[in-house]
Amino acid sequence: MSEILVLKNITKAFPKVIANQDVNFSLQKGQVHALLGENGAGKTTLMNCVCGLYQQTSGEIFINNQAVRIDNCSQAVAHGIGMVHQHFMLVPELSVAENVILGLKREKDFFIKIEDVEREVAELSEKYHFGLNPKAFIKDLPVGMQQRVEILKVIYRQASIIILDEATAVLTPQESEELFHIVENLVKQEKSVILITHKLSEVMRLADQVTVLRDGKVVGTVSKEKTNERELAKMMVGRDVLFDFKRGKELEKSLKMNVENLTVIDTRGIEKIHQLSFSLYSGEILGVAGVDGNGQLELSEALTGMTTYHGGSITLADKTYKHMSTKESYRNGVSHIPQDRQHTGLIMERSLEKNMILADYWKKEFSSYGFLNQKSITKHAATLMQSFDIKASSPLARIRELSGGNQQKVILAREISRGPDILIAVQPTRGLDIGATEFVRQQLIDERDKGTAVLLISTELDEIMQVADRIAVLYKGEFMGILDRDCLDVHEIGLMMAGVRKKEMEGGYDEA
Ligand SMILES: Nc1ncnc2c1ncn2[C@@H]1O[C@H](COP(=O)(O)OP(=O)(O)OP(=O)(O)O)[C@@H](O)[C@H]1O
Ligand SMILES: [Mg+2]
Repeated sequence: MSEILVLKNITKAFPKVIANQDVNFSLQKGQVHALLGENGAGKTTLMNCVCGLYQQTSGEIFINNQAVRIDNCSQAVAHGIGMVHQHFMLVPELSVAENVILGLKREKDFFIKIEDVEREVAELSEKYHFGLNPKAFIKDLPVGMQQRVEILKVIYRQASIIILDEATAVLTPQESEELFHIVENLVKQEKSVILITHKLSEVMRLADQVTVLRDGKVVGTVSKEKTNERELAKMMVGRDVLFDFKRGKELEKSLKMNVENLTVIDTRGIEKIHQLSFSLYSGEILGVAGVDGNGQLELSEALTGMTTYHGGSITLADKTYKHMSTKESYRNGVSHIPQDRQHTGLIMERSLEKNMILADYWKKEFSSYGFLNQKSITKHAATLMQSFDIKASSPLARIRELSGGNQQKVILAREISRGPDILIAVQPTRGLDIGATEFVRQQLIDERDKGTAVLLISTELDEIMQVADRIAVLYKGEFMGILDRDCLDVHEIGLMMAGVRKKEMEGGYDEA
C-alpha cells in the first residue's frame, strides 16, 4: 500500500475565516477515503486547495512522495487530480463527447477529431460501466447520467485521484446505488477516491479510511473497520445524534389549502401533474413521498406561484385561484423552501443579512419612510444565525462565501422564521450535516405544533416517516394514496412508490 496523496499541515485562511488549520491527511493508492464534517467544517475548501481552485496559505502537498505546487486547475490535472463538484459544470447544448474535451488544452487539440473522442469516451464508458452514449446531449440526460459525464471527464484527463464532493446529494436512491458501483470499479482500476459526504451509510459502505474535520481541524482519522455510524456522528458533532423528536398533541384542524384537479404541463408539453386533488390542514405535516422526478418540482412550483398550471384550482384563505402569482402565494402566508436553492431563493453576491429579508424588507420592523432600518436587519440576521447555527464571519458575509450547507440554512431560517400559515418545504435537509438535519426536522414539527400547515416534499423516506402526520405517495403526477402516520406500512409505501394505487391493494378503497 502506498500513499498517493499526502497533505501536511495545510492551513487555508480567508480574510475573516480560517477554513482549514494544520490539516494532515493521507490517501492510500486504490482506496476510498471519506471526508466528514459539519457544514462549514472546511471539507470543500481543503479539496479546492488540492484541485487548484485555491492555494493553501501554508503547508505542503505531496503526490507519490514528491512535494508539489498546485497553483491552478491545469496543474492539478497534470498531477492526476480531478474533482467532481456538487454543481456540475457541463454545457447542456453540447454532446457528452464534446463536454468531455471541453477546456482541454493540449497541442494536438487543434487536430482533435470528434469521432476519435466519441470512440475513446465509449471505451471508457464501457470499462467503468457508465452506460453513456457519447453522442447524447447533456440536456437530455437525467442528473445521475450528467454526473457520470463529470466523472468521465476526470478519468479522460487520466486522473488517478478522484474527489467527489457530496456526489449523492442530488441523486435518487437508485442513482446513488449505481454511483457506488462506479466508485467500486474505479478502485478496482487502481484509482484513489476522496469522498465528501454527510451520509454515514455511504461512508460505511464505501470507505476504507475516514477523516473527520471540525471547525477546520482534523478531529481524527479512523479506519472504517474500527468504527460505526454512531461514533462518526459523535466525532463530527461532538454529541450523540439520536433523531428523537418531540411532538406536540394534535390541534384542532382547519383547512388551509385546497387543491382541486391540478394539472401542470412542462415546457416540453409533458404532463407532470395530473388532476391532483388534496387538502392541507393547519397543525399537520403532509409528507409527499416518491421517487424524484415524479412531479415533485412541478407540484411545489405550482403551489407557490412559480409556475403556471394548466388546469384545476388552488384555494387559499377562502380565495380560489385559477392562476396564482408568487406574490399572491406569499401574501397568503405561504413560505417556500425551494428544491434548487442556489438558483431560486438566494442572491449569491448579496450579504447574508439582505438575503434574510429578501421578500420582507418592506415590513415595519425593517424599514420606515422608505429607509431600511439597518440596525434591526443586522440584529434579525444575527438572531437567526444563532438559532440555526449558521456559520459565517458576520451578517455582512456574502452568501457566495458561505459553505454549501450554510447557504441552505439561510433559506431555511428565513422561510421558517417568517411565521408562515403554510410552509412548503422541498428536500429541506439536502446538503445539511447530521446535526442540522435533526434540528431542521424538529423545526418542521415545531411549526406544526404552532398550527402551521406543512407540506413536506422529500425523496428521503426516513425523513417523511419521522415527521409527517399523513403520507401521500406521488407517482407520475398523481397520488397513489394517502396513509395516516398511525397505520404506516413501509412495504405498502414501497408499492405505491412503484405506481400501485392504494385502492388496488385493498380492492376499491381509496382515502386519497
Ligand atoms: N471564498 C470564500 N471566502 C470566504 N470564506 C470562505 C470561502 N469559501 C469558504 N469559506 C469559509 O470557509 C469555511 C469552510 O467552508 P467549506 O465550504 O469548506 O465547508 P464544508 O465543510 O464544505 O461545508 P458544507 O458541508 O456546508 O459544504 C466556512 O466558514 C466558509 O464560510
Ligand atoms: Mg462543502
